[in-house]
Amino acid sequence: MHTTFRLNGKVVSVDSDPTRTLLDWLREDRGLTGTKEGCNEGDCGACSVIVTDDDGARTLNACILFLPQLAGKAVRTVEGIAAPDGTLHPVQQAMVDHHGSQCGFCTPGFIVAMAAAHLKGRTDHDDQLAGNLCRCTGYAPIVRAAQAAESAPVPAHMHDTPVDAPAPFAPATEDALADWYAAHPNGTLIAGATDVGLWVTKQFRDLGDVAFLNRCTDLQTITETDDTFYIGAGVTMTRVLDAIGDHYPSYGQMIGRYGSVQVRNAATIGGNIANGSPIGDNPPALIALGATLHLRCGDTRRHMPLQDFFLSYGKQDRAPGEFVTGISIPKGRVNHRVYKISKRFDQDISAVCGAFDLDITDGTVTAARIAFGGMAGTPLRASTVEAALTGQPWTAQTIAAALPAFAQDYQPLSDMRASAAYRLQTAQNLLRRYHADLSGAAHDVRMVSA
Ligand SMILES: Cc1cc2nc3c(=O)[nH]c(=O)nc-3n(C[C@H](O)[C@H](O)[C@H](O)COP(=O)(O)OP(=O)(O)OC[C@H]3O[C@@H](n4cnc5c(N)ncnc54)[C@H](O)[C@@H]3O)c2cc1C
Ligand code: FES
Ligand code: FES
Repeated sequence: MHTTFRLNGKVVSVDSDPTRTLLDWLREDRGLTGTKEGCNEGDCGACSVIVTDDDGARTLNACILFLPQLAGKAVRTVEGIAAPDGTLHPVQQAMVDHHGSQCGFCTPGFIVAMAAAHLKGRTDHDDQLAGNLCRCTGYAPIVRAAQAAESAPVPAHMHDTPVDAPAPFAPATEDALADWYAAHPNGTLIAGATDVGLWVTKQFRDLGDVAFLNRCTDLQTITETDDTFYIGAGVTMTRVLDAIGDHYPSYGQMIGRYGSVQVRNAATIGGNIANGSPIGDNPPALIALGATLHLRCGDTRRHMPLQDFFLSYGKQDRAPGEFVTGISIPKGRVNHRVYKISKRFDQDISAVCGAFDLDITDGTVTAARIAFGGMAGTPLRASTVEAALTGQPWTAQTIAAALPAFAQDYQPLSDMRASAAYRLQTAQNLLRRYHADLSGAAHDVRMVSA
């Protein structure tokens, strides 16, 4: 099956296996070796490319991007960043002027990420470049280069347009997806491929029948009513942040540390829930909010509280052929907070992620929803802690009395991210942090200065 897209301004057609990555194809078939392979798992940004479709331009990691995901889109690699006459792009010139490159291995990825940020007028360079790893230059000269290029006009060739092209392996509607999945209940759905991509690049798995969800626009809707946000399963984390970040600033801050720009531009909220990971960042936040999950199998639709979806490690309440269509999130929960604890601040998976949402009336806790990731085989509510808080005055004494209950709710594991003892202690400390947060005290490393 052919995939047709625009590459550095020219339309190309590719005949490939559905799980061939863009990075492999660029380097091996096209000789476009400027796009580097560092980690081959989405972590380093050396393979960054700009992808443009009807929603605009964004950076993605080519190492976990399958060729059929590009059907009808425009791709710009580092070879297409300078003007056709060879004139350097403003960010390239600024990197030269500000000594932004030493060994140079990371440089193409930085250039692409910087050119994308420049195209979109973004000046939050630390965030825009958090997905690009440099081992030798240090970030200061690179950020200075990005700042220096801010006011330069966007070169005309950077404005890409999509192509009218058929989409292989990609149902165009939710109905078509339901039919395909009913006929291929053991097939693999691929949304952003930020998990599935690694099954191929790291585990060398043959995925068999696959369906790409990126053409399914009815899974990508966001609807806001007086009391609810409805977010389609295919909505990327970048769009989730845009939609709810102002309403739920603490949740939004967590999403701002979810992977990197490149990962958030690909990863979907549905994929993050459906994968059932005990360390996915959305489920604790959404469970604390009392979110409702929507599922579909053939013509049958089901709805359930999200917390009921996670049955045990690796097992979710999802039948063969059934897929996630979206999630409904209640609005107006003013005490909702999410705290992500990871070894690195940016671009890291949580060791522990805690979410809290208490109703406090006249100084007394009247209802409590607390959920954690990284503390059990599934995202899980802290029901004993909740019971220890409910009906009690919202004070440091109540919190101290509730802390032992964490050990009843959770018996975490030790792994490479954290020891069991660290996790338990951290979960307890996050309840203290929540108390400090609601009382207006500094509670985040970014709020503390010498
Ligand atoms: C570098 C990197 C950083 C990351 N950082 C984070 C992080 O900070 N926090 C975090 O939580 N996660 C993180 N992840 C994990 C990953 O990005 C998320 O789990 C992501 O949201 C998955 O979404 P996706 O659209 O890419 O899913 P995919 O990889 O496409 O799919 C994941 C799974 O869900 C299934 N699936 C997808 N959509 C549906 C659907 N609608 N219905 C049923 N099944 C479906 C797929 O078949 C597959 O089993 C990171 C991953 C990488 C590579
Ligand atoms: S090679 Fe590291 S993100 Fe792709
Ligand atoms: S210049 Fe060497 S990795 Fe960045």
